Amino acid sequence: MSSYQLKQWFYVKRPNEFVGTEHYELRESDFSPQLSKNEVLVKSEYISVDPYMRIQQAATHSWEPPHPLNTVQGAAVVAKVLESNNDNFQPGDWVSGYIGWQTHAVVHGNEIQTIDPEQADVKTALGILGMPGRTAWFGLMEAGKPKPGETVLVSGAAGAVGSLVTQFAIKAGCRVIGIAGSEEKCEWLKTMGVDEALNYKSYSSAQQLQTKLLELGGVDVYFDNVGGMITDAALTSLNLRARVVVCGQISQYNGGLDIPEVGPRFLHQLLYKRASVQGILARDFTHRMAEMIEHVAPWIKTGEIEFKSTEVCGFEYLPDTLAGLFEGQNTGKAIVRVV
Ligand SMILES: NC(=O)c1ccc[n+]([C@@H]2O[C@H](COP(=O)([O-])OP(=O)(O)OC[C@H]3O[C@@H](n4cnc5c(N)ncnc54)[C@H](OP(=O)(O)O)[C@@H]3O)[C@@H](O)[C@H]2O)c1
Repeated sequence: MSSYQLKQWFYVKRPNEFVGTEHYELRESDFSPQLSKNEVLVKSEYISVDPYMRIQQAATHSWEPPHPLNTVQGAAVVAKVLESNNDNFQPGDWVSGYIGWQTHAVVHGNEIQTIDPEQADVKTALGILGMPGRTAWFGLMEAGKPKPGETVLVSGAAGAVGSLVTQFAIKAGCRVIGIAGSEEKCEWLKTMGVDEALNYKSYSSAQQLQTKLLELGGVDVYFDNVGGMITDAALTSLNLRARVVVCGQISQYNGGLDIPEVGPRFLHQLLYKRASVQGILARDFTHRMAEMIEHVAPWIKTGEIEFKSTEVCGFEYLPDTLAGLFEGQNTGKAIVRVV
């Protein structure tokens, strides 16, 4: 029986505001697992950090109960099979699954999916060919319903979901305005072909940003990743029969989840513009993953869609990397490489 050095990040303390390393505990132990029938031992290679982790740390129920304390932080992982007692998996295979912030795990074969490294970089399973890709594709296509020539506004446009929504909207023949938090991110958005890239940090109020959005002709589809001031500006810049896709509200996660601001305050704008608002959740589309991959995978192969990630090297940096999402440290998908 082989022995491994297991490292795990346990979520141990609920944050009231910003999340950081102090809310986690790194535990190390010797690990000599014995596999039962159909079980597989995997070693994590790339681990995801995502804003929803902070939502799950709120005291209140979201779409599910809060993440329990004193358990390994849940997360999507790209891993390699080390040992297998399951005919569908061989040592050396690449797989993905909801394995959590740990270096090794024993999982049942039906908890993991094989990744074909010939199809695309294995890291895409955490991004464009994974949950963020599914969110971007179905959120835009099913809730946003973009039509050629319409203006799509994307907040958080240089992030994991936003950078994909941006590119899918360009592919759908739309005029795209991307909003992000730095000049570098705006420059990157321009290389992807957005018509306008706005750095929200150079606008001091929602009114100022609203003026700019109206100057640009208003918004037919607003894909909202961030909420707050940007959404205030977007909702007052809608065109007739606009669609608002509520995907995320990251500006509200650090303290605003348990004691939310009173609002929304702009519902009359929806009335004036006969606009519709739809919240979307990635997990509602899990069963339609193959459909999304059929559309998107060829674009990765031809290079028509760019998948960018910000890779942090070192298992010990997982909580810091999560905290960094709220400071805009990532461009594209934030991923921690286990070294
Ligand atoms: N509904 C679903 O099923 C679903 C699935 C996945 C993600 N989401 C949501 O979608 C949003 C994006 O997620 P992601 O995984 O793609 O993360 P991400 O955009 O890759 O990373 C978070 C980004 O948010 C921006 N940000 C942080 N604090 C902000 C603030 N106060 N105001 C404005 N922007 C802020 C930062 O970029 P800047 O430098 O531009 O500020 C940061 O890089 C999140 O709200 C997340 O919860 C929802």
